[in-house]
Amino acid sequence: MIAEAVLTDGTAALLWPLRSEDREALSEGYEHLSATTQYHRFLASAPHLSSTQLDHLVDEVDGIDHVALVLVVIDVDRVGTPVGVARMIRYEEQPAAADVAVTVLDEWQGHGVATALLDELVRQRPVGVTRVVTTVAADNGPSLAMLRRLGKTTVTPAGIGRLDVVVELTIPHPPDTANL
Ligand SMILES: CC(C)(COP(=O)(O)OP(=O)(O)OC[C@H]1O[C@@H](n2cnc3c(N)ncnc32)[C@H](O)[C@@H]1OP(=O)(O)O)[C@@H](O)C(=O)NCCC(=O)NCCS
Repeated sequence: MIAEAVLTDGTAALLWPLRSEDREALSEGYEHLSATTQYHRFLASAPHLSSTQLDHLVDEVDGIDHVALVLVVIDVDRVGTPVGVARMIRYEEQPAAADVAVTVLDEWQGHGVATALLDELVRQRPVGVTRVVTTVAADNGPSLAMLRRLGKTTVTPAGIGRLDVVVELTIPHPPDTANL
């Protein structure tokens, strides 16, 4: 499903599902991120994504338990550039809970990309998920802010420099139209 959005600076954007063809772009895009953005995304310092990580981030997207969306900004010449990706992955052992991860290119951070991605991701989330359970770096204010927008949020310390975050999602699933 393709969705439209307008970022906080007025930039037009489209959001669509990550495809297996995006593997190389994802790998290359990661290498251009700042070390801080890479660290905040994976809570580890790594300049490259391994092929195992790419298998997980691309091949394991099934649109059912692992939903991933790309946000593409559209310039005045109607040329699209991918600037962010967000995903929600259901926990096998807690089917009503999912992890959330978002990455926005450094030069596009602070323009509402994550907000637009999460608004749509929550609408397209795995069926039955009512709660986000994740861990973020304690100095990652933007990540905490984007998560707090999604619902009632509980934050607890999780060791040095980390916070566990639980969000009870307030946005309901769209009505099931399958039987209409
Ligand atoms: C965290 C991240 C995804 C946010 O993306 P973004 O597109 O910059 O976020 P938005 O512009 O949509 O803003 C989201 C919220 O963060 C706040 N925010 C954005 N940049 C901020 C900054 N530099 N300082 C403080 N708050 C900031 C915004 O005000 C907004 O909060 P609000 O709705 O209460 O106003 C992005 O900074 C990023 O990719 N970071 C590295 C990877 C990461 O940390 N991912 C999250 C953990 S998986």
